[in-house]
Amino acid sequence: MNAPTAPRLLDAISTRFRADFGDGPFRRFFAPGRINLVGAHLDYNGGDVLPMAVDRGIYLAIRPRSDDRLRLRSLDQKLVVDVDAGQVGARTRPAFGWAGYPLGVWQCFREATGHAAGFEAVFAGDLPMASGLSSSAAIEVVTALALDTLHGTRLERQQLALIAHKAENGFVGVRCGIMDQFASALGRAGQVLLLHCAGPRWEHVPFDPTACEVLVLDTRKPRLLAKSGFNERVAQCASAHEVLRTHVRDLPHLASYSLADVEQCRSAMGETSYRRARHVATEMERTRTAALALRAHDYQRLGQCLNSSHASASGDYEVSCDELDVITAAARSCDGVFGSRLTGAGFGGCAIALLRPGQAEVVQEHVATAFRSRFGVEPGFDLLRNGTGPVELG
Ligand code: GLA
Repeated sequence: MNAPTAPRLLDAISTRFRADFGDGPFRRFFAPGRINLVGAHLDYNGGDVLPMAVDRGIYLAIRPRSDDRLRLRSLDQKLVVDVDAGQVGARTRPAFGWAGYPLGVWQCFREATGHAAGFEAVFAGDLPMASGLSSSAAIEVVTALALDTLHGTRLERQQLALIAHKAENGFVGVRCGIMDQFASALGRAGQVLLLHCAGPRWEHVPFDPTACEVLVLDTRKPRLLAKSGFNERVAQCASAHEVLRTHVRDLPHLASYSLADVEQCRSAMGETSYRRARHVATEMERTRTAALALRAHDYQRLGQCLNSSHASASGDYEVSCDELDVITAAARSCDGVFGSRLTGAGFGGCAIALLRPGQAEVVQEHVATAFRSRFGVEPGFDLLRNGTGPVELG
């Protein structure tokens, strides 16, 4: 297995674990973050997405307790949380901060399996936080896998993903779709997940790391509007769906309608909902094309899907910003770049560029110069590789 290796982080979580919780055995786990190749904002519309687990994510050192105390630490966050099971409740609260994610998973795991014992844990990650690479899904999935292993419950990976998703939706209160948790839980080396969120059903599509690398382009722009903008898009899509159901036919998801259906309802929907629905219909087509391109080993065509996905996410869905438009355009203008688009919810954070191996340095230099001269800010770069799903580490 292509296990993730971040020896420095593994040492660091082990050292902190012993310092805070004393000697004695503990176990270590990893769950990956993800990038989404194509299928922007389709998961909560019941559409098809094409995410890939990356070789970065969240590491966890954990030991079960015989009582019901929960003790959580992070190398990336100052906040320390020590709480009794009875105080966790059904929803997170400000005092839990980042620990709301693992506490939510503990709560949902308890509901699903009846296992309510406490644990002590140290987390650390090598993903840029809050940048659109799903650090929160990775925290959730690594916690779910660890609890499953510690209690010997042998849940399927998709059940772990559903527990993680329930924690984020119900406990943390973010109305995201299922993509991030499934991408992390079902990730596989050398493959991309083609996830049909209606269902859900999935298949794995080969990804050739020798043909194509992924460069993350970090605009350094905080995703301040991400939560309100995201919820607004969810509501706009629900209202477009309602119009389609009454004017065309009753289908379960917005992504089930064709572009012709959407065109037919343009005036009934109003311009904003029409553009959101048009993005959803055209993005479904791009996900299909991108999966075919991957199967045909056609990275040029895959790259074109990324480019048109970005144009639609920016124009029709309006989740881009100047920084993301400029950084992706600069990447596209370089030789050896197949395509580039924003990743995650948008509104700032990171974009990705697919490139021919060996091109990263030249692309970085060109993109940094263009971005600096426009915004006076030094962008960040990270060359990511395709990674495994969640795993226990030795
Ligand atoms: C965020 C959400 C995902 C998905 C993407 C947009 O990352 O967490 O569920 O909706 O935005 O594609």
